[in-house]
Amino acid sequence: EKGGWPNFMSKEISEEPEAVANTLLGRVTDGLVQLDELAELDQTLRDIDRVTIVACGTAAYAGMVGKYAVEQWARVPVEVELAHEFRYREPVLSERTLVVSISQSGETMDTLMAVKYAAEHGAKTLSICNTQGATIPRESDAVLYTHAGPEVAVASTKAFVAQITALYLFGLHLARLRASLDERAHRDLVTELTDVPAKIDLVLDTSERISELAHWMADTRSVLFLGRHVGYPVALEGALKLKELAYIHAEGFAAGELKHGPIALIEPGQIVFVVVPSPRDERSLHAKVVSNIQEIRARGARVIAIAEQGDAAVLPFADEVIQIPLAGPFFEPMLAVVPLHIFARDLATAKGLDVDQPRNLAKSVTVE
Ligand code: BG6
Repeated sequence: EKGGWPNFMSKEISEEPEAVANTLLGRVTDGLVQLDELAELDQTLRDIDRVTIVACGTAAYAGMVGKYAVEQWARVPVEVELAHEFRYREPVLSERTLVVSISQSGETMDTLMAVKYAAEHGAKTLSICNTQGATIPRESDAVLYTHAGPEVAVASTKAFVAQITALYLFGLHLARLRASLDERAHRDLVTELTDVPAKIDLVLDTSERISELAHWMADTRSVLFLGRHVGYPVALEGALKLKELAYIHAEGFAAGELKHGPIALIEPGQIVFVVVPSPRDERSLHAKVVSNIQEIRARGARVIAIAEQGDAAVLPFADEVIQIPLAGPFFEPMLAVVPLHIFARDLATAKGLDVDQPRNLAKSVTVE
C-alpha cells in the first residue's frame, strides 16, 4: 500500500502535486473557474456579506491562506476561526453569512458542531472535504471536495495543498459571480494555479538539502518559523508539523510581530526558518522580511530561508537558503510548505520516531 515508500507520509508528500492537480480537474473551463457543484448556492454567494471559515489544525492554516486570497479576489470580508472556539462565543451570523468548513476527514467533531451551530443560526454552509459522503459534507448546504486521495498518516500533508487549491477555486468562483475581478486577472490566476503541480514536483526533486539539514538537527530542542502575508500560515503549519512529528517545541510567528515580542526568544544557536516573500512582490514585504533576517542573524541565531530562486538579497544573511520556483504571491505557500513537511518528517525519522502514528494523536478526532 505504501507503494515502495518507507511510510505513508513519504508517499503522501510525494502526492502533493497530484493532490493539487486532481482537485483542479474538471473545475476549469476555457481558462475560467466553473464550479457546477455550487450551482444551488450561486444566488447565496452573490448575496453574502461575510465568509467565516471554521476548521482545526492544518485545515485551519489552509483556511488562513485562503482568507487572504478570497478577500483579495472576491472583496468579501473573510474570517478564520478555530471550530472549537466558534460556537461558544455567540458568533454574529445571518442568512448573509457563509460558513465554510474545512476538514480532510469530514468527521472532526469540533468542526461538525461548528457547522451545525452555523446552520441552526441561519447561516449557509459550505464544506471543503476530502472524504466522499462524510458527516460534515452531509450536514452542509453544499460541498466542494478536495481530491487528494486517502490520507493515512495522522499528520496532514497533501490534504493541506488540496485545501488551499479548493479555497482558491472557491475564491475565483465567488469573484466571478460578484464580478469583482477582471477576466484577464482571473485567467492569469487560473494559469498560475494550474502550474503549481509541476512546480511542487521541482521542489520535491531538490529536497536533498532540507533532508540533510533535518538529519543534522536531530538534537534540536526548539525551532521558530516566521512568515508574512500568506507565508504566515505556512510558518504556523511548519511549526505544527514539527511538534506533531518530531515532538520539538516549535512556534510560528507573523514576521511583522517579531519586534513586538518573539525577538526576545532569539539567542545564539536558535534555529529560525523564514518564509521569504518574492522580491518581485510590489508591496515591499520582501525587504521587510530580509530586514527581519538581519535582526535575527545579528543576535547569533541561525536562519534557514525558504526563498524564491534567484533571490540574491537573502544570500548574504541566511545560513541556508532553500530555493523554490518563481510563483505569484498566492502560490508561494503551496511551494514553501513542501520543504517544511519534508523537514519535519526527516527530523522525526532521524530521531527514530514513527512519522505515520505520532504519540497521542488520532487521524480524526470524533470527540469534542
Ligand atoms: C487533527 C489531525 O486531529 O485534526 C490533524 O491530527 C488535522 O492532522 C486536524 O489537521 C483536522 O482534521 P480534519 O480531518 O478535520 O482535517
